[in-house]
Amino acid sequence: MAEISPDGKTTKYNSYEEYVNIQDSRYHSYDCPNCLKINEFNLEVLLKHNKDIKTILDVGCRDSAYFDSAKKKGIVCHGIDISPRSVEYAKSKGRKVIQGDINNLLDFFGSTKFNAIISSHSFEHFLDHNQALKNIRTVLEPNGIFLIRLPNETIISDTKRKAHTRAFIKDELIALLNNNRFKILEEKIEFKSEYFFVCSPIINASINDFPLYTVTKEWEELYTEVLKNRYVKTKYNRKNRLQDKIDYVNKWAPEIKKNNGNVLDIGPGPGEFLEVARFFGNLVKGIDSKIENNQMGNEYVTLSKLMTKRQNIPVQYVGFENMLKDGLPYPDEHFSFINSQGSIEQVFSKHLSGVELVQHKNCFNLTWTFDAATEKSFIKLFSEIKRILCQGGIFLLYANGAKNVQEYITYITKKINETRLNIIKTDGKTLHKIQKV
Ligand SMILES: C[S@@+](CC[C@H](N)C(=O)[O-])C[C@H]1O[C@@H](n2cnc3c(N)ncnc32)[C@H](O)[C@@H]1O
Repeated sequence: MAEISPDGKTTKYNSYEEYVNIQDSRYHSYDCPNCLKINEFNLEVLLKHNKDIKTILDVGCRDSAYFDSAKKKGIVCHGIDISPRSVEYAKSKGRKVIQGDINNLLDFFGSTKFNAIISSHSFEHFLDHNQALKNIRTVLEPNGIFLIRLPNETIISDTKRKAHTRAFIKDELIALLNNNRFKILEEKIEFKSEYFFVCSPIINASINDFPLYTVTKEWEELYTEVLKNRYVKTKYNRKNRLQDKIDYVNKWAPEIKKNNGNVLDIGPGPGEFLEVARFFGNLVKGIDSKIENNQMGNEYVTLSKLMTKRQNIPVQYVGFENMLKDGLPYPDEHFSFINSQGSIEQVFSKHLSGVELVQHKNCFNLTWTFDAATEKSFIKLFSEIKRILCQGGIFLLYANGAKNVQEYITYITKKINETRLNIIKTDGKTLHKIQKV
């Protein structure tokens, strides 16, 4: 017999047949009025988001009674359900339903796209939730909507519920949705015992997707002051900074997703790049210098830390300068995308001369020195990057300019090639897109 785990979070089945039988015996039902009401409400919610919906796929549709009322509204509904009895009944009513497992959805609908997809109290029954979302994402129109609702119990305490494969806590469910590149358009919180989300696929992000004023005016003024004294004259402008990163991630999102979707930012500052990458469903991490060691000054890291904390971005303040000594603190992790914008000259400050870096207002007053120590540092950096990059992963290196920027380009190109990484794009000045092949 199927077993519920001691923590009540998952159910284990002895065989796939047992799983299908449990679904079939517990959840075949015939035009139950309450279920019909729930599903007609779902339909109403979808139509409020888009009144032009013409096609719907219901995954785990059971008897799919509401298909009849949808049809009257000119909507063509298709359904898939694992339960042979429910499907047989639905078919007898002339509804377009096939018997099958959501995990094999693409065998049936691989070349179809739907305006909307509904999973109403079925997601918690699926065996592979990640695969289910991937399949749903594939058959949903890029501008389509996905309605998902399920019980919000954190444990499957009731033994009657062996048909539930897993219980979710809200954050897990949201992370799963985000990781499959769904963003939440609406959450209904009035259903006390349910999670109820209307989602849409994330294709491109826009500035409207981000909260603009999540830091106080004082923070912005202080940050501007720190930047002014230490570095640049511009005012801290969250909107501009986010827009810059949005363009950047919009451009490279498909490549990031080709691998495991893990993103690392070396020197994330207030963390806007990671914030945007996370919005695209990537798992993000940052590494920055210790507060007392930062070339931009202590207040800079203190303020950055406040911001990353506020946005819940995981950044380790361990000192990325240590990677030249001890290597990067990721013994077993791999990343699809590693970003380093304007931080490399801080790691390599020992190899730059001119104005004191903490005081410099313009990095173009600095000069790179290329000696044996510089070489050792660069080789160490690139081999560490290579070690933690996924095969085919991307490293974006943007160093601010220096007086001898051309010399720098020639030099690091040589070092990158020596480490057997590939530069696949460069702007010939300071931007390098480097790939591990
Ligand atoms: C609680 S019922 C909900 C039915 C319907 N959506 C409703 O709101 O009335 C769960 C449904 O999911 C179906 N189901 C369970 N696992 C499935 C799977 N792997 N693939 C497709 N359907 C599945 C069950 O057979 C059942 O009909």
